[in-house]
Amino acid sequence: MAAPNKIYPRTGDTQTIYLKNVITNPNIQVGDYTVYNDFVHDPKEFQQNNVLYHYPINGDKLIIGKFSSIACGAKFLFNSANHTLDSLSTYTFPLFFEEWGLPWDKMKEAWDHKGDIVIGNDVWIGYEAVILAGVTIGDGAVIGSRAVVTKDVPPYTIVGGVPAKIIRRRFDEDTVEELLRLRWWDWPEEMIRENITAIQSGCVEQLNRV
Ligand SMILES: CC(C)(COP(=O)(O)OP(=O)(O)OC[C@H]1O[C@@H](n2cnc3c(N)ncnc32)[C@H](O)[C@@H]1OP(=O)(O)O)[C@@H](O)C(=O)NCCC(=O)NCCS
Repeated sequence: MAAPNKIYPRTGDTQTIYLKNVITNPNIQVGDYTVYNDFVHDPKEFQQNNVLYHYPINGDKLIIGKFSSIACGAKFLFNSANHTLDSLSTYTFPLFFEEWGLPWDKMKEAWDHKGDIVIGNDVWIGYEAVILAGVTIGDGAVIGSRAVVTKDVPPYTIVGGVPAKIIRRRFDEDTVEELLRLRWWDWPEEMIRENITAIQSGCVEQLNRV
């Protein structure tokens, strides 16, 4: 068994963790086997160092699927980073309600709310990529290093740059459809273990035979 409750998947490597097993924030959900690597900070501090402007008052969520790989320094920027652009000023008066005699319960009006961040299964997020609030990244997508992702990314699509643009699709449409139907990441662990060669083959027909 890959022991889904343990923190370190590799003996002697404390820079790589099963992310799910260090998450304590109820507004962050991470699927089994998703890994985070950090060689600058303790990867166990992901919630503090990588999930930014994520104030409980907004209730916004970070949802990450199974078997995703998140590289060092990838960041998720939540709604409290978005000074509202509907106001004549971007100064966050509602946040400093005591200073300006404003009602505390209007504090959220300091920010534009773009929604949750949802990352699919088997997504690879490159080094120091930044994912903005409201973005959904489909299963099997790849985010290039240092990309700033401002829009949704379709499944099995590689994006890169600032703002992130599509570089290419990983597979033809039929293959993507098949992979999204098979959802190998939801198989029982034993079934995945027995079929790793097929999963790694690059050939969906092999997976189909399983
Ligand atoms: C995006 C990536 C996966 C490469 O994908 P690829 O399809 O093999 O891309 P290629 O190298 O063939 O490059 C294709 C185009 O994308 C561009 N490109 C590649 N990586 C890019 C990036 N991170 N940002 C912006 N553009 C990028 C290339 O310049 C090239 O542009 P062109 O078509 O104008 O010449 C890779 O470059 C990357 O960023 N990997 C992440 C690595 C990482 O951070 N690892 C962390 C440890 S897990």
